[in-house]
Amino acid sequence: MSQTAKTRVLTGITTTGTPHLGNYVGAIKPAIEASQDPNVQSFYFLADFHALIKCQEPKRVQESRLEIAATWLALGLDTDNAIFYRQSDIVEIPELMWLLSCVCAKGLMNRAHAYKAAMADNEEAGNQDPDKGITMGLFGYPVLMAADILMFNANKVPVGRDQIQHIEMARDIAGRFNHLFKGQYFTQPEAVVDEKVEVLKGLDGRKMSKSYNNTIPLFSSEKKLQKLVRKIKTNSLEPGEPKDPDSCTLFQIYSAFASNEEAASLREQYAAGIGWGDAKNHVFEYLNAHLSAPRERYNALMEDPAHIEAILQKGAERAREEATITMDRLRSAVGLGRFV
Ligand code: TRP
Repeated sequence: MSQTAKTRVLTGITTTGTPHLGNYVGAIKPAIEASQDPNVQSFYFLADFHALIKCQEPKRVQESRLEIAATWLALGLDTDNAIFYRQSDIVEIPELMWLLSCVCAKGLMNRAHAYKAAMADNEEAGNQDPDKGITMGLFGYPVLMAADILMFNANKVPVGRDQIQHIEMARDIAGRFNHLFKGQYFTQPEAVVDEKVEVLKGLDGRKMSKSYNNTIPLFSSEKKLQKLVRKIKTNSLEPGEPKDPDSCTLFQIYSAFASNEEAASLREQYAAGIGWGDAKNHVFEYLNAHLSAPRERYNALMEDPAHIEAILQKGAERAREEATITMDRLRSAVGLGRFV
């Protein structure tokens, strides 16, 4: 199948945190698997321009970019196959964002969930100005995301539920541009929300998320991993009493990694009254066995940022090869082409 006939799958990872088990199960694992499909050309990028919206700590942003890149590589992303790059290396993206901003209705952005939530917070806090503390970055966030997607004519965009609206906005903006400039400049992207992919629970039983401070970092040291698994909230049932796996965070985390047979076997042990200490040891041993090889690769990669840099540069080169051609065409479309 030729390059152009492949389905284009694209997704961005905002670089503000340290990857945790929930990110792995919910996003990284399915993305790496999808990139192995010969009928797919995948584009995965570090959404580091997006990171600046939420985070003005340069050290944190820089660290997170390196950690996230190292994580994807350690988990086996094949970068000969997937195009893996940093958003900020593709200077054509903010350029496209401007062209899109000039056709995007402000009213559309007024309806964005993230912006509305920020205004609602202001109202709740009793602030006179509903826009207090809201930057143009936050307001225009969906236009930047549309530029990410439309630049590479992505067909499918795997995202979490909270991002569906942004894909719809990208479709809206694409349609408006095509209509105004009378051409099929952009493909309409489609959001892909995988119902099968579980939302992993964190230490306290709520969704595993950096904002709840309840995560298990993917590449914690063995000791730290053990400590965190021991912290997973369980109930007060004694050893010997049967336990319910379906309402149990420990079991949910285990089954996100284990095979069906392995999960079924732990389920039986719950019914037979396994004690929480033993169950936690079992889960820790299992996670540790599965994470120790990628953890070693991760640690080695973190020691060699030049290697990661070279991989990302190669990805940027591949992405820009296409982005420069697309931008030439778009510049001409809007009346910014060369004179000769
Ligand atoms: N906004 C997305 C998030 O927070 C990350 C992202 C940025 C993205 N650009 C994208 C996702 C383009 C998909 C496509 O999860």
